[in-house]
Amino acid sequence: MRVIKVLLVTILMVAFAMPVQAKIRSVGKGDKMNFDPSQIPNDLKGAFEIMKVKCIQCHTQERTVIAIQTGIAPVTGQPFDKQATKAYGIKMLRKPKSNMSREEVKQVVNLMNFLIDEAAKP
Ligand code: HEC
Repeated sequence: MRVIKVLLVTILMVAFAMPVQAKIRSVGKGDKMNFDPSQIPNDLKGAFEIMKVKCIQCHTQERTVIAIQTGIAPVTGQPFDKQATKAYGIKMLRKPKSNMSREEVKQVVNLMNFLIDEAAKP
């Protein structure tokens, strides 16, 4: 009986947790993970192209996908919400050899804010 109870609770928890994380789809696994391009609207495709090149110079895109899907920055465990995206963009820009311009970071921050909005939709 106890086992069944535990199982039921687990299933319920997974069922409730799923919609929150399933809204922003990703393609690929591990190092190859990226946002599903079909979820990116036309006016943000340019920003997505910048992100695909500039934001994988030091780490993989998996880091950003996980941050947006879970709402938590995977390295530091800090909340990754719309208040945080700009600060993270600037943090990345200021790293040595970031090879990004302010404008490029601005566009990527814009894209991340869109994705966070999408992730929050009921
Ligand atoms: C110059 C190297 C470099 C570039 C370019 C870079 N990052 Fe990072 N990123 C890092 C390092 C190093 C970390 C480890 C945590 C830290 O130092 O903030 C990190 C961590 C992260 C994290 C997790 C933060 C945390 O606190 O857990 C996210 C999300 C992220 N980067 C997104 C991006 C995005 C989006 C871009 C493109 C705009 C980008 N990165 C470009 C070096 C870089």
